Amino acid sequence: MSQHPALARAAAFCEAFNLRVPILMAPMAGACPASLAIAVADAGGLGGCGALLMQPDAIGKWAAEVRAGSNGAFQLNLWIPDPPPKRDAAAEDAVRRFLGDFGPEIAPEAGDVRPPDFAAQCQAMLQAGPPIISSIMGVFPEHFVARMKTTGIKWFATVTTVAEAKAAEGAGADVIIAQGMEAGGHRGAFDAAKAEAGMVGLFSLLPTVVDAVRVPVVASGGVADGRGVAAALLLGASAVQVGTAFLRSPEAKIAAAWADAIGRTAPEDTMVTRAFSGRHGRSVATAYARAAAAPTAPAPSPYPVQRGLTAAMRDAAVKANDIDRMQAWAGQSASLAKAEPAAEIVRRLWDDAQALLG
Ligand SMILES: Cc1cc2nc3c(=O)[nH]c(=O)nc-3n(C[C@H](O)[C@H](O)[C@H](O)COP(=O)(O)O)c2cc1C
Repeated sequence: MSQHPALARAAAFCEAFNLRVPILMAPMAGACPASLAIAVADAGGLGGCGALLMQPDAIGKWAAEVRAGSNGAFQLNLWIPDPPPKRDAAAEDAVRRFLGDFGPEIAPEAGDVRPPDFAAQCQAMLQAGPPIISSIMGVFPEHFVARMKTTGIKWFATVTTVAEAKAAEGAGADVIIAQGMEAGGHRGAFDAAKAEAGMVGLFSLLPTVVDAVRVPVVASGGVADGRGVAAALLLGASAVQVGTAFLRSPEAKIAAAWADAIGRTAPEDTMVTRAFSGRHGRSVATAYARAAAAPTAPAPSPYPVQRGLTAAMRDAAVKANDIDRMQAWAGQSASLAKAEPAAEIVRRLWDDAQALLG
């Protein structure tokens, strides 16, 4: 019996990127320890590192640790920086007062937080020499794309709309990651101001992007069991990128309250909020996230000012294992996530998808 065309497409992708299973671990800034990438890579998928918050030396160390633990493949990932935020002292004071109900005192300079230097992070990624580098929130500068091409590194570009997919392909992306609005964590909209208005679900985004570009497309957002993997492949994806479904594995090492909340969160109990970082992201609808969405609550400050202002609350929440104030990112399929070893999750997703696709 001949292979289903969707399985043949996935097999071609695996062959091109040295994988045994068309499942990518999402690069999750702050929740992608080497242990998780090693487990996913050993199971035949692609490990991932969201390097957004990492200094250059930490990026090199992460890659070295994964290489020491696995012969499998991995991707390094960065956000394309937004223009510097416009500061507004009065608005930030209002946010500080609001946060006073949820966390410890906020240091006067908390809003001045600066992300690590993007150019130095890019350099560190090139030095680490991964097979794949991925982007989110925009496209890499031309000179960096040229460096990737000359060193043989493939560029996977995350997009949230068809227009972004075309722009990324035009800028030289080798693979498009189509991120539906179901996705946990930050939305990858190129323009932060359009992140909420441009919310498109994966069932509409994926086949439209597949039709609009010539490069392979990876599906991301709400894929959390074999049914999701099979559906994504039928809609034209060559592989899937999975985030939330890995977060309850022991290798992800996230706070217990967050992992537990993921297991009991219905799709309608997640929400898209700017209240943690200033950029739109999908989290469990915690007490803090809900309160911040009330009409009387102050508008969050822009990224990364809001991230700095909420840092004390978020850190205290992790120490106290308190879900209500924690930055508890989760996709809409959260409740499908199982507390199993990551290798078992990869195996189950792929076995079930293959069974469905005959
Ligand atoms: C905790 C968390 C952190 C994330 N951080 C990043 C990141 O740094 N870079 C990135 O490209 N995507 C990031 N994402 C988004 C994922 O790449 C992916 O699109 C998403 O997890 C897919 O939806 P799912 O969580 O429903 O599987 C993050 C997602 C989560 C849950």
